[in-house]
Amino acid sequence: MRAVDIIAKKRDNILLSDEELKGFLESYLSGETTDYQMSAFLMAVYLNGLSEHELKTLTQTMRDSGELIELNGVERFLIDKHSTGGVGDKTSIALAPLLSVFGIGTAKMSGKGLGHTGGTLDKFEAIPGFKFPSTEEDMVKTIEHTGIGIMGQTENIVPLDKKLYALRDVTATVSSYPLIASSIMSKKLAVRSDGIILDVKVGDGAFMKNLADAQKLANIMRGIGEMFGRKVHIVLSGMEQPLGDGIGNGLEVYEAIESLKGNGPKDFERLITTITGIALLQKGDVNSIEEGVKLAEEKLQTGEAVKALRDFVEDCGGDPSFIENPEKFLTAKYTLEVKAEQDGYIASLMAEKVGNSAMLLGAGRETKEDEIDHAVGIVLKKKVGDKVTKGDTLAVMHYNKKNQKLEDAIALISSAYGYSDTLVSTPE
Ligand code: URA
Repeated sequence: MRAVDIIAKKRDNILLSDEELKGFLESYLSGETTDYQMSAFLMAVYLNGLSEHELKTLTQTMRDSGELIELNGVERFLIDKHSTGGVGDKTSIALAPLLSVFGIGTAKMSGKGLGHTGGTLDKFEAIPGFKFPSTEEDMVKTIEHTGIGIMGQTENIVPLDKKLYALRDVTATVSSYPLIASSIMSKKLAVRSDGIILDVKVGDGAFMKNLADAQKLANIMRGIGEMFGRKVHIVLSGMEQPLGDGIGNGLEVYEAIESLKGNGPKDFERLITTITGIALLQKGDVNSIEEGVKLAEEKLQTGEAVKALRDFVEDCGGDPSFIENPEKFLTAKYTLEVKAEQDGYIASLMAEKVGNSAMLLGAGRETKEDEIDHAVGIVLKKKVGDKVTKGDTLAVMHYNKKNQKLEDAIALISSAYGYSDTLVSTPE
């Protein structure tokens, strides 16, 4: 069938057969179908959605468009944890070593940050010399040695998603549930794992701004996993305010290491112990998530997991002394305290503004080509629910350049805080 006929069918809400949809997608990957035809098709999907069967065909065709990471020979139970992205989200850096001490391996791909949200790849690159494994063979080696298998995204895995995502980005078709869900799940299905845990962020700093939207996306993703026989657990976690206290690449690795010694912020520790509890349940080592969470909490107090992170970093060419002495990450030339402008309780702390403020300091990129500064960022001293007196320190800016962007970053942080005269509860 001609591309134009496929577009017309989707426009008119007529179901596409497997062959029609698969053939159309494959002809786009090969370059026969043009960007403008695919743009029209994506907009029709955005407006009319996809049937369950079409969703499966789209996901499967994307997954099969490139290499599959099969991790043959790896005997560990393998978890792929995916977060939909947020501010201060350093979960993978602490979670993978924590899972490792329970004999659970991590197998996942990670990317760079764009816009106000950070990426795991940039955070690890705050460690001098560090480079993620780029082949399956190297990933198998790090999993077998350390339990941690995190790979950078390559051109060869799910190339159709890469091509479609770039087009969606410029045709106002990113925020479509079936397109987001199939895009994320095709990448999960391309990597072998025994359990998938999806951390769907909800709130100001997240893609999904409210609980109903996040739940809808989560259900579609879980449904796709089930269609392919995968175990999928969902965690809906708050992103009204940033996760943890540190925002910025080196500062986040620092916080992840401190958390592995039981010295981390409570909200972050709660997230990593919850996900570990789910992983232990998926593996069959515990009878309930609560039982697994308790084991994870105890493990954090021992500091044992730091070794797995150290060994992974060393295997990836990074300087392990940064993990042994995490204060080595605190290298920004200057720090500046942002003070409370009034008395009261912190009622809100808008995550997106905090992320944008860190970006202005140089912690993130505005365009894909921008260089990032791994040392800069923000450490939050007050979060929602805290009582403050005028003049108290709200946040500390770590920066290297005194310029207009610094002034803008400070103004943005001050405006991210909202106050209340009455007691505000700490978010769960
Ligand atoms: N992340 C993805 O991988 N794909 C999307 O479509 C949105 C977020």
